Amino acid sequence: MFNHIHRFLLACILISATILTHAQNLPQLGKNSIQEVVFAMTLEEKVNLLVGGGMNVPGMPLPGANTEVTTAQKRVLGAAGTIVGVPRLGIPSIVVCDGPAGIHAFNAGQSRLYYATAWPIGTLLASTWDTTLVKKVGAAYAKEAKEYGIDILLGPGLNIQRNPLGGRNFEYYSEDPIVTGNIAAAMVEGIQSKGVGVSAKHFFANNQETSRTTVNVIASERALREIYLKGWELMVKRSKPWTIMSSYNLVNGPFTAENAELLTTVLRKEWGFKGFVMSDWFGGRDAVGMMKAGNNLIMPGLGPQKQAILDAVKAGQLDVKVLDQNAADILNIMLLTPTYKGYKFSDNPDLKGNAKISREAAAEGMILLKNNNALPIVPGSSVAVIGNSGYELIAGGTGSGDVTKMYTVSLADGLFHAGFSTDAELYHTYTQYLEDEKARKPKRNLMEELMKPSEPTGEFMLSADRITKIAHTGNYAIISIGRNAGEGSDRNVDGNYNLKENEKELIKNVAEAFHSNNKKVIVVLNIAGPIDVAQWRDNVDAILLAWQPGVEGGNAMADVLSGNVNPSGKLATTFPASYSDDPTGKNFPGKEFKDKPLPGMFGQKVFEAEVIYEEGVYVGYRYYSTFGVKPSYEFGYGLSYTDFIYSNLKLNSLTFTDKITATVTVTNSGKVAGKEVVQVYIGAPTNKLDKPATELKAFAKTGLLKPGESQTFTFTITADQLASYQTKLTSWVADAGRYTVKVGTSETVKQSAEFKLLKDIIVEKTDKVLVPNAAINEMTPKATAKK
Ligand code: BGC
Repeated sequence: MFNHIHRFLLACILISATILTHAQNLPQLGKNSIQEVVFAMTLEEKVNLLVGGGMNVPGMPLPGANTEVTTAQKRVLGAAGTIVGVPRLGIPSIVVCDGPAGIHAFNAGQSRLYYATAWPIGTLLASTWDTTLVKKVGAAYAKEAKEYGIDILLGPGLNIQRNPLGGRNFEYYSEDPIVTGNIAAAMVEGIQSKGVGVSAKHFFANNQETSRTTVNVIASERALREIYLKGWELMVKRSKPWTIMSSYNLVNGPFTAENAELLTTVLRKEWGFKGFVMSDWFGGRDAVGMMKAGNNLIMPGLGPQKQAILDAVKAGQLDVKVLDQNAADILNIMLLTPTYKGYKFSDNPDLKGNAKISREAAAEGMILLKNNNALPIVPGSSVAVIGNSGYELIAGGTGSGDVTKMYTVSLADGLFHAGFSTDAELYHTYTQYLEDEKARKPKRNLMEELMKPSEPTGEFMLSADRITKIAHTGNYAIISIGRNAGEGSDRNVDGNYNLKENEKELIKNVAEAFHSNNKKVIVVLNIAGPIDVAQWRDNVDAILLAWQPGVEGGNAMADVLSGNVNPSGKLATTFPASYSDDPTGKNFPGKEFKDKPLPGMFGQKVFEAEVIYEEGVYVGYRYYSTFGVKPSYEFGYGLSYTDFIYSNLKLNSLTFTDKITATVTVTNSGKVAGKEVVQVYIGAPTNKLDKPATELKAFAKTGLLKPGESQTFTFTITADQLASYQTKLTSWVADAGRYTVKVGTSETVKQSAEFKLLKDIIVEKTDKVLVPNAAINEMTPKATAKK
């Protein structure tokens, strides 16, 4: 008996020792080289790492989730996805969460994530032109995410705002790649400085929501390089994002997620990207093609995608080395994540501190479009707030870019907090109306709400008597015009870009009543993207473009309206005089081929589609300034409560060799302290290639200048900033000739100077990639002039 027990114990010791030795011998992430760890992974483990662990959305069961994922998903309830680890090799499961304007948890409500900070939308952040501030927002956003256990934020969004109607423009920064690249780089640097990763999205030319998963964008190599890739290039080279999200659309043929020319040649070889690429959710069609193209991670990940990869390896159609490389890229980044580092998150971020930063950023990006001696509002005045959105702030957009926010501050509340007396009866009327209307709306499930958000409540119409009454009691009328937008659809011209008839009527009636009492009328635009202003702006005394300003929006609006903050935002997107002026309108959103149906996401009906970018490089102000079409408010425009003068623009040389420096002084010549954005544009020679009349090359923001105070800036312009993409040479070339440096906005020149470049400079030879698969009748100034 004793012998038996003895032998049994001995056997147990031996088995445990073998297991232990085996475990000790297993490579571990971080202790052994990435190659050793990848080598130790089974094929199934590799595939589980490369295809995400599903998505835990209530009412939407997905095949292919596993228990490890559930554990990671529990950590951050409702996060968009997880990357599945291999515990035996020390590879943790990590969590990715939307983005980009704050944390979005799909099934929040019971979770702590309900209390997240809604930051101002991307378009507002870009309107600050303040990279230091954007970095600060990024850092605060990342700290919040880290305290909730998130490893990677799905943002920032940096597609070009090609057309004013783009449904997700609010998530993006600008129509201009230089603003886009600089602001995005600042955001990425801010987020990653706190040890949280980004997934910069959606790479690339994802400029519309209509047919977003099927549309083939047909564009010239030049337009792609100069407009649609440039901002990405700047951001990737400068801020080294951990990850990039490929987009849903196709460009010149293939899906971006399946395009090796894009993900391998351009992104990795030309730009030196070292992180990993993940697909957009359910994006791409062919899992094996995505693996081969360098789309390392398929999100959110489905069982059939895993099977397809396994089958392809087994059938010899997919070299396992491709999987090894894709896995290695992911593991390299995993080493940086809070989860890998064992960060003990608190579930208790500094929401109060973040609300302050959100408010500061919001006020800094608001743009004063018009001011006929109406603003700032005289302290202690009584104000009549009119318009639904004045009582229910639109803090941000809809879809995955929505934020699971705890509260919002309305304009009416913000003005009240700032010490103005607001009309209590009006307050009651509007809030009651909004509540009643909400109660009447049919309940919709999460997916319906995500893909096609409910229509906003119809504008409450004040009777003529009521308007007459409030025009007697209030010192000012402040009319808020609200617009929302989001994932899944683009905006319309009628009733969205153009004001609705009842909105125009409201503005007209209020203006008549207040003006006849010698009182001022101010319009606040709580909107996601440009709208028409030409048809009504003459009726009002001031217009503040407040965008969608995040949780503290109403307080930030009041900061600017009261003059506590002097507005310093400038447009990073043109406000056309009429939608029909926009050169992209002719090809937006392209055409759908109703005879070519395709299976869509969540059972939606979709069709093959295409859009041809006939405007070429003439997007936004590049068109308006070159073709002499006057917008309502131009790119770079924005008023202040003070004035600035520019002086002493000097170049260090009249001839360009490898760089040139431009120095300019800005002085506050007005009566109150304020900040100014210094914008440097260049006009380049066009004898060999047609070019935009003016292109932004650099910008900077002053500090808060006191009256009389000056600040001097020096900008260095290098050859790559002078270069255009010459398709025949597949090269970036700075043409010899005369260049003009212009300081001002896209339409106004405040100071200018000239220099010469004596010989062409070939700045960079690129690969011949992303070639259009159809003819493009591209617009050029010369071709148009001939007509
Ligand atoms: C959106 C992405 C988002 C992802 C995860 C997709 O529908 O296009 O921007 O990050 O969902 O929620």
